[in-house]
Amino acid sequence: MATTTWTRRHILSLADFAPTEYDTVLQTAASFREVLSRRTKKVPTLQGQMVANLFFEPSTRTRSSFELAAKRLSADVLNFTPGTSSLTKGETILDTAKTYLAMGTDMMVIRHREAGVPQAIAFEMDRLGVRVGVLNAGDGQHEHPSQGLLDLFTICSLIDVEHPRLELLVGKKIAIVGDILHSRVARSNIWSLTATGAKVHLAGPPTLVPQLFAQSVTGRPGELFIHWEVEPALKDADFVMTLRLQKERMTAHLLPSLREYHQRYGITRDRLKLCHPDVKVLHPGPVNRGVEITSDLMDDPQFSLISQQVTSGVAVRMALLYLMGSGKT
Ligand code: NCD
Repeated sequence: MATTTWTRRHILSLADFAPTEYDTVLQTAASFREVLSRRTKKVPTLQGQMVANLFFEPSTRTRSSFELAAKRLSADVLNFTPGTSSLTKGETILDTAKTYLAMGTDMMVIRHREAGVPQAIAFEMDRLGVRVGVLNAGDGQHEHPSQGLLDLFTICSLIDVEHPRLELLVGKKIAIVGDILHSRVARSNIWSLTATGAKVHLAGPPTLVPQLFAQSVTGRPGELFIHWEVEPALKDADFVMTLRLQKERMTAHLLPSLREYHQRYGITRDRLKLCHPDVKVLHPGPVNRGVEITSDLMDDPQFSLISQQVTSGVAVRMALLYLMGSGKT
């Protein structure tokens, strides 16, 4: 395992992640990928520690991935489901977190439909003076740092499987296509991809790709471009990230129709011909098949990295829990 001087107690956002932190995560995740390829896919690293998975919003992959990551590290895991919890009796989120704290939780993995909830719980843990690490597993439209890191790990591993590292992205063109406005995944990816010299091209309808995103990366090593047509973003791209149209977050009529969206922005075999010949396609899931990407392309291993992303997710989340938990053991 990589020796490290990890000092971050909470992982809430990638906005202030340092290049060395990215590289530590990538290197540690590569070690855990090796563990996951063994016959016995478990290490005793977090034995005796407890991870609480507090998912106040539905999730398939992120929640299962954190659960499996914690179990592979031999931690005890508590899973919280809002529908069957005391939230329905009026308990506040902070009181729920404190209940898990009183049971001896060492790390809390939090997903919530409102931005800022993981941060609020982290503040409260710090105020109480307890050494509990809080990991943001997606908060509203704000950030989804573990998804940004697993996407980074997937991309860097494709370039150099043995030594995935940030510098591999220098000069790479990465197109992020779709509903950027509502996407916490896009926000976290913009931070990680511009932390080095990558060229990030955002594309989608003007209602879903606000111009002001361009200002957010001023002064960072990477560059960011905005397109309201998909073709210029795809031209010679090394990687294409498609994003789900987040219908549940759309309060206004931001799109004419899903059919028209697919016609103008959907990722199809024809459109991929504009990209670099070795282009790969990512999607954080869940996918609206036939809307943001054609169904057959999604399942085509020549182009699609979607299942690698899911596999990478476990190794990356093991790395995050290990790094946050290692200060305690
Ligand atoms: C994303 C999420 O929930 O933010 N999915 C995920 O975590 N894998 C993206 C989405 O919901 O579209």
